[in-house]
Parts: sequence; structure tokens; C-alpha cells
Amino acid sequence: MDRIRIVGGQKLNGTIPISGAKNATLPLMIASLLTQDTLILENVPRLADVVLLQRILGNHGVDVMIAGKRRESEPNTGRTIHLSAANIVDTTAPYDLVSQMRASFWVIAPLVARMGQARVSMPGGCAIGTRPVDLLIMALSDLGADIEIEAGYVIARAKNGLRGGKVVFPKVTVGGTHTAIMAASLARGTTEIENAAREPEVVDLADCLNKMGAKITGAGTARIVIEGVDKLNGARHSVLPDRIETGTYAMAVAMTGGDVLLQNARPELLQAAFDIIGRTGATVTPTNEGVRVARNGGDIQPVDVSTAPFPGFPTDLQAQLMALTSRANGTSHITETIFENRFMHVQELARLGARIRLNGDTATIEGVSRLRGAPVMATDLRASVSLVIAALAAEGETTVNRVYHLDRGFEKLEAKLGACGAQIERLSV
Ligand code: EPU
Repeated sequence: MDRIRIVGGQKLNGTIPISGAKNATLPLMIASLLTQDTLILENVPRLADVVLLQRILGNHGVDVMIAGKRRESEPNTGRTIHLSAANIVDTTAPYDLVSQMRASFWVIAPLVARMGQARVSMPGGCAIGTRPVDLLIMALSDLGADIEIEAGYVIARAKNGLRGGKVVFPKVTVGGTHTAIMAASLARGTTEIENAAREPEVVDLADCLNKMGAKITGAGTARIVIEGVDKLNGARHSVLPDRIETGTYAMAVAMTGGDVLLQNARPELLQAAFDIIGRTGATVTPTNEGVRVARNGGDIQPVDVSTAPFPGFPTDLQAQLMALTSRANGTSHITETIFENRFMHVQELARLGARIRLNGDTATIEGVSRLRGAPVMATDLRASVSLVIAALAAEGETTVNRVYHLDRGFEKLEAKLGACGAQIERLSV
């Protein structure tokens, strides 16, 4: 298993190109199931999750074609992929595939909308426990699907097609909103979604679906209205830049000091995070090419932050902010309001010398003047990258184990940081 070795202490200076967003790419790829025509996605990041979803879609009969290198193609632009679901040959998404990536559960929506049936494994262990899918099922049922749960599978049926309806989410859910939008696009009549997720990735999905002939208005607000159509067509769509990758590298610069242009980043996609990064003492300047983040001298200042659905501070940047504040000049508080148990990085950051106390959903981070390198490992994607950020500022050597978590969501991490002066390398075993 690969590991990443980092020798901390270098400032970051240079340019980091921001890739297409993982969390937009996944629902966009899934949307290809809604049409017999070809959906062409540009700016697709090279990530393990994308490869896994190609396999999952392939199992349903989707042909995935990845364009080869072009003479004019720049090394830092994402790939173009063609997805063609001309014939759906299987409406079952099996446990061994769905259990590896929660988002793959979302195939249930286009499958039942287009084929009138879907049988999709619950994502991971006890799915009606900590990361449930009850609200996704509620949305499909509001649109007329009959739902049965049998032997770990959710079976959705709509023999005569789905019908428009009112979906009122009791809690903001990104996956629930993606599911409802995809299902409603091919339903008979009009659907209203209330308390919809306002995340930029929802807007990107709606934009792409509208190019495919859907009639969606209000994406990006809490009320989305969808007039169902009989059929969707192919389209060409470029994936929006990854706001979590952007925020992650911004925090890395705020941590080490230096000056980096985050190329292609769109500041309006993460205003709340940039405000916080500014309060920690870094300067954030939008430019024509992206966003410049710098910290030259001065301490890292402590902050108090709660995660929240968009436009609030994203849960997917919580671990990275914890790494950054671990070296602040004072005490910070970070409250996690989206997921119950997203603090797996705390004990690993402690190995590097961070002082963090947990009390329910709130972490109290007492800043320390120095961190020291150590072997660490993490259990999820964002937690792993928080360890990378801490390691970049730690004295001596850190090895981050279980690098496959990073490969799920960060394209060319070592190359991007290495190009800005970080001492970072992958050790392949
Ligand atoms: N929830 C329910 N019932 C449901 C669905 C969700 O109770 O049926 C709860 C969840 O347990 C959670 C909250 O609602 O407490 C929000 O979950 P949401 O559905 O919004 O999350 P998701 O769609 O499963 C996406 C991202 C996550 C990101 C969250 C929140 C993708 C592929 N995943 O997950 O990203 O943390 O939204 O913004 O888009 C990551 O990239 O590392 C990641 C975990």
C-alpha cells in the first residue's frame, strides 16, 4: 500500500491548478443514465472515485469512452469522458460495488425514472443508522415510486413512470436533492422541492440537466421547481472547479506561509471558507486567473467556526481547518453540525503534537507553537488531507499511511504541492 512522506517546514510558493470537482462529477456521471444519447463531460478529475463509478455505470450497460491525449491539451486540464447509456442492461446495483462509494446509491433515481425499476444495495453497513438514505427514499416515494427494502437492497418501482409531486426535506441533504432532481426530470408533471441543498454541485447538476432538455428552475435556492419532460438528450458540460480542493490548498498555504495562485478557483464557491481563512491571518485575493492566497509573516490567529450547509462553512473543510488552527496563537472552537462522528482526524493530529479536546460535536483546539512529524493514518478522505496540511508545517518527517483515501478525492496531490516547494513524495510498496 502506498504511503506519502513529507518533510515539513517549507513555505509554499507558486501555482496550483484546481481540478474539476469530485462531488459534481459523480452526480453528473450518474445523470448519463437518464438518456439514450451521449453525455460528454469535460474537466473530469483523475480520481479513484471516478474510476469506481465508471465500473458501476458499466455494470448497468453504460459505455464510457475516455478521450486520449490531444496535441493541444494542457497537462493541467481534466479529462473529457463520453458516457452513453443507449441500452440499460441491468437495473441492479450490487452490494460489492455500492458499498465502496456512498454516492453510487444515487443511480436509483435515474434507473427508476427511465426504466420503471431499480434495485440498489444500501450503501455500506447499517445504512439506516449513521449515514442513512431515508430522505432519498422519501423523495422517490413522493414522486410515486413504490419502495420495498429487502435483504439489504432498496427496490424502487414505478411501472407507469414517476409523477411530479412535492418533496419537503426535513433536513438539508445534498444526495437527497440530487436524487429528487434527477427523478423529477423524467416524471410526469411538476415537482417542487423545498429545503433543497443549495450547494454549487447541485447547481452544476441542474445546469447540465437543463442542457439535456430538463426544465429545472431555482437550483442554488432552497426551492427548486422541475417540470418533467418525456425524454432527455445528450449534452456537453464542463465540471465546475473543486471548491473543497481549493479550500484545502488555501489552508495549506495559510499553514506554511508563502504565496500561491489557486488557478481556476472560483471564490464565490467558498466565500465562507475564505472569510475564515482571512480571519486566521492569510490574505485571499481574487484574480482573473483564480484566487491568490498568501501569508507572509505573522501568527495564525484562532477562530470559532461551525460547519453548515452551503453557503456556510463546509463540513468537507472541517478537518483541514482543525489542522490549520492546531498551530494558532490561541484557542479555537470547531463545531461539526452535519455529521455525527466526523472527528477521526483528532487522534492522528494529536500524534503530530496538536492539542485538541472533544466535547460532543465541538472540538477545542489549543494552538501549539510547533508540531513534530510522526507516522499517521486516516480513515477518510478529508481527514487524510488534514494530516498532510499538518505535516507540511511539522518539524521532521511524517508518513501518511492509507494513501488510497487521498487518491479518491485529490488529483496529483504530491505533484501539485511539490511544484510549490513542499518536500513530499509517494512511497510505493
Ligand atoms: N441524511 C439523512 N438521511 C438521508 C440523507 C442524509 O439523515 O437520507 C443526513 C446525513 O446523515 C448527514 C446530513 O443529512 O447528517 C447531510 O448529508 P448529505 O445527504 O447532504 O450528504 P451526502 O449527499 O451523502 C455529500 C458529499 C459529502 C459532503 C456532504 C455534505 C458527495 C459525493 N458527497 O454527501 O462529501 O460531506 O454532501 O456536504 O457529494 C466528501 O467529499 O469527502 C464527502 C463526504
